[in-house]
This record gives sequence, C-alpha cells and structure tokens, in this order.
Amino acid sequence: MRVLMIAAPGAGKGTQAERIAEHFHVPHLATGDMLREHVARGTELGREVKGHLDRGELVPDEVVLAMVRQALVSARSGNGYVLDGVPRTMPQARACYQMAAELGMAAEIVLHLRIEEALLVGRLLARAADQGRSDDTEEVIRHRIEVYDEVTRPILAWYRERNILVSVDGDQPVSDVARDILAALTALGLAELPAPHRPRAALDLTGLATAFGAAPHP
Ligand code: AP5
Ligand code: MG
Repeated sequence: MRVLMIAAPGAGKGTQAERIAEHFHVPHLATGDMLREHVARGTELGREVKGHLDRGELVPDEVVLAMVRQALVSARSGNGYVLDGVPRTMPQARACYQMAAELGMAAEIVLHLRIEEALLVGRLLARAADQGRSDDTEEVIRHRIEVYDEVTRPILAWYRERNILVSVDGDQPVSDVARDILAALTALGLAELPAPHRPRAALDLTGLATAFGAAPHP
C-alpha cells in the first residue's frame, strides 16, 4: 500500500494516515511530524525551519525532499507507506514521483480529504487546547489554509489527470471517513492482502472493515 495524503490543515490527514498505517502495516511518514521533531531536538535543521513552521510558511522544497527520500529508503523493505503532508508544491510533486519511481516505490493512490474551510479553524483551535502546537493559533491557521489554497490545492488536478486521485468526504465522524477510505481502496483493488498463494475465497475482510470503524456484520 503506497499512499500520498493531500488535504488542508486540519482536514484529518494525520488521523486517517495513522489508521491506514496501522492496518496495512506500513509506516506513517508525516513531514510535519518529522520537522517538529527536529525543532524539538534542537537540530541544525530544526533551527533552520522553526520560523517557517511558527509562521505557517512552507519550508524549502529541498529540505522536505531530502527528508522524504531518507524516509522512503528506510521504508524500502516494507509493505509500502502513507506519506502525510507531501507533496505541497508542484516541484515537490514531480520530485516525489521521480524519487519514488527510482526506488520502485511510486505511489499507487493520492487520497484527498474534502472539507469546508470554515470547519478547519474550529478543529485546529480545539486541538491547540490539548496539543499546544506552535502553529495552531487562529492567525497562523488561517495563513496555513491560504498557503494550502494557493500552492497545494492546484496539485490535485495534476493527480486527477493521472487518474490516481481519490477524494473522500472529510466532514464526517472519523470512523466514517476511514470507512470511505477503505471502500475506495477496496474498489480500486488496493486493499487486498499481499498473499498471492492464498485463495481469495479464504480471505476474511470483516475484521478489516471493523478496524476502519464500520459496524460489524450481524
Ligand atoms: P503539517 O504537520 O502537515 O500540518 P497541516 O497540514 O497544517 O495539517 P495538520 O497536521 O494541522 O492537520 P491534519 O490534516 O493532519 O489533521 P489531524 O488529523 O491532525 O505541517 C506543518 C508545517 O510543516 C507546515 O505548515 C509547513 O511549515 C511544514 N511542512 C510540512 N510538510 C511540508 C512540505 N511538504 N513542504 C513544506 N513545508 C512542509 O486533525 C486535526 C484535528 O481535527 C485533530 O484534533 C483531530 O483529532 C480532529 N479530527 C480529525 N478528523 C476529524 C473528524 N473526521 N471529525 C472531527 N474532528 C476530526
Ligand atoms: Mg497532521
């Protein structure tokens, strides 16, 4: 399972990426988390990007791409990845494709969570209360949304033209969003377990649906 997640700040990328990663036993590679970890550890890179994060600006493409490359190389021996928060610019989209393709790890699907902007600010302010992320102030949240609209949203058309974009309604309870994602992955034939030697009839996917929040079959 090789997935890219692109969606506005607060749309639920991290929340859903965690579920996909856990279920399909693939790493959740979140560029925002990696950058915050550098800041928290006070590394040179962390000092370089802290201002960008605090202001809600994108960090330079080359910084993110170097991190993504390293993460992909580490994930090479596994079952894939969920990349959360990248690409965010057209050059990142092209470079991500090229570098993943060279590693034989090109994404199979790009997941987009659709959600009204008005809901995003409320969600992130609510998160600010318990997580205290330095960029979860109203002013910075609004700026992050503007950056998303201007720079990142246009990338979606690029993936749509390549027929690998799936948009899911992100304005639903977490488990319903997860259920729709699983339905989309299943419809595309991506949710099947990688066990070609096992007859398909023996696969029991009911647990899979439950893990993604669907009601168990009676
Ligand atoms: P990043 O960490 O990626 O932040 P973001 O895009 O602003 O998104 P968030 O992490 O805030 O939201 P999310 O979509 O993950 O939602 P979540 O699941 O947490 O990036 C931070 C910064 O790093 C950037 O501004 C930039 O500076 C830099 N950066 C990162 N990647 C970069 C790149 N590629 N290039 C350049 N710079 C980069 O959910 C949000 C809240 O809502 C949570 O409290 C959650 O519990 C709740 N929630 C989730 N789903 C639901 C639901 N269905 N219903 C109700 N509540 C929900
Ligand atoms: Mg996130």
